Parts: sequence; structure tokens; C-alpha cells
Amino acid sequence: MAALNPRGLNLPDRPRRLRTNPVVRRMVAETTVAPRQLILPAFVAEGLTEPRPITSMPGVEQHSLESIKKLAHDAAEAGLAGIMLFGVPLPEKKDATGSQALAGDGILNLAIAAVHAEVGDDLLVMSDVCLDEFTDHGHCGVLTDDGVVDNDATVELYAQMAVLHAEAGVHMVGPSGMMDGQVGAIREALDQAGHLDTAILAYAAKYSSSYYGPFREAVGSSLKGDRKTYQQDLANVRESLREVRLDLGQGADLVMIKPALSYLDVIARVAERVDVPVAAYNISGEYSMIEAAAERGWIDRDAAITETLTSIRRAGADVILTYWALEYATRPELQR
Ligand code: PBG
Repeated sequence: MAALNPRGLNLPDRPRRLRTNPVVRRMVAETTVAPRQLILPAFVAEGLTEPRPITSMPGVEQHSLESIKKLAHDAAEAGLAGIMLFGVPLPEKKDATGSQALAGDGILNLAIAAVHAEVGDDLLVMSDVCLDEFTDHGHCGVLTDDGVVDNDATVELYAQMAVLHAEAGVHMVGPSGMMDGQVGAIREALDQAGHLDTAILAYAAKYSSSYYGPFREAVGSSLKGDRKTYQQDLANVRESLREVRLDLGQGADLVMIKPALSYLDVIARVAERVDVPVAAYNISGEYSMIEAAAERGWIDRDAAITETLTSIRRAGADVILTYWALEYATRPELQR
């Protein structure tokens, strides 16, 4: 029996003792976010001579083939894990099959080669394997005569794309189109072409989400309508466990959940279950809503950035794709 305190209370358990000062709080903090766990998504647009701001993503730019090299250099210097490259072709070069994705001099292939030449193995060069940036209809694959995304025809194109990326020097490909069988087809194509060490970061659980909004501007997307016939319904979590299982069976090296914030429960469920590293993508709309609120003085920007990244790690993500990666890594006051 514990003694009563001077006020006559028997209160031996006081969790506040471990919150009394910054040093003890730091000592008992369960979650950290290190630059080595962060990946910077970046956009490279054809025809640019200098970077062009993306209005709906303050602080993020479309890069030129020249300026992306500096960004990658800075990312390596800051100790980031990697850079995830998205290619934005000239609007007039988009077509129904996204043929620029398979052109040797297509913007994404050139960007991969340029970045790889700049950073070598000091930074993981990653690429989005998807067709939506390259198609004039904006869907992630080619369409059947009925206007539906043709799964199997699309998967073949992804496989060819991944091999081109590997030839250009990519370390890790990120198939993001949510076609059935995409991971297996890419693994097989990479292996057949001798790219045994090119890893696959599978967008395993990717939900159809309103938070992709600003990304559409970032890649000059011409999409009308939605992606609900291939991206997941936000009501479901078991479906994600299945998607993850299927991707692991096909050779995924890491699995990703996307978006992050409205799907922290999905991250947690997946992380409990798998024996591979788990990534989460803190996407464009999640970035922009904090930037917009901060611009209006409605939210403490620095604190919100740290809180966002820490919560994604706490949910179970080992690796985070975030547009704040470089800023977080170069501003120690944000870090925990
Ligand atoms: C597909 C792709 C998208 C994003 C990454 N890869 C767009 C989509 O699926 O609609 C979104 C990233 C973001 O919103 O930050 N190429």
C-alpha cells in the first residue's frame, strides 16, 4: 500500500513524470524520423530551361534536366534515401498509348540517366512506372475500345518501361498503376534482361483519393473522371492485405501504402503482417493542405511537418515518400 501524499491522495502512477522536461521526453520517445528513411518525389518536365513552380504545391517545382541534377545532388548530400522521379512530357507528345514512356529519349528515361550520372550510388534513383503522365486521356494504362483500362496490355508496357529505366540506371522501380500482375511481369522482364539487382518498390495498396489533386497539376494530367476501376475503395482494409500478399508473391521488395494520413490504420495492419520494409507516400494533397493552412497562419507549419512524418512512422512505415524530405533533412530543428 503506497502512502498518501500531503493532499491525501494515493496516486503512485503519474505518467506526467516522464514529460517534465525536453530531455526526459527525448529519452522516452519511441519514434524517430531520420533523413535516411526519406525519399523525395520530384518532377522533371520536358522542354524546361529552368524550374517552373507548381501553383498548388507551394515550394515544389517541375525541374529541367539540368536542375534535377542539382536537386539530386543536394538530396544525396543531405543523407536522404532516394529520389522518386516522375516524367512530364510536352503536352503535344502525349498520345493514347503513352508512347513517350517507351521512347529512349523520353523525358523520364533521360532524367533517370542524368540523375544516376550525378549521384551514382550515393542516392537511390527511383522511378514511377506508370502511364498516366504520358497518355492524352490521363489514365494509368491503355484503353480498350470500350474505354476501360486494359489490364494485361498495360502490364506489358509497364514491363518494357521498367527495363528501360533499369538500362538508364534506376536502382528501384515503383509500379504505381494498380494493374493486376504488374509486379510479377516487371520482375520477370527485369530478370530476363539481366537486371537482377533492380528492386521493386510496389505501390501495393493504393487508394482512389481526393488527395491526389495537386499531383494532377504537377504532371500536367489530362485525366477526366476517376481511377476507381483500378485504385482501391477507401472503405476497405482487407483488400489491402490481399494486394500486399499478391505483390509479395510476385517479387515486391518493399510494399507501399498510399496515401498515408487517411490510411494510417492500413499502414499499421500491413506493418504487423509482412516481413519486408513498409513504405508510405505522404502525397501531394496531404502536403498542400498543410502548406495552405500554414500560409494563412492557421497552423504551425514546422510542427505540422514533424507531426505528420512522425505519425506515419509511428503507424509502422519504415520509409516515407514526402515532398518535405529535403527540408526536413536540412533543418535539424524539425527532426526527431
Ligand atoms: C501515378 C501516380 C500518382 C501519384 C504517384 N504516382 C497519381 C495517381 O495515381 O492519380 C500521386 C502522388 C501524389 O499525389 O503526390 N503515376
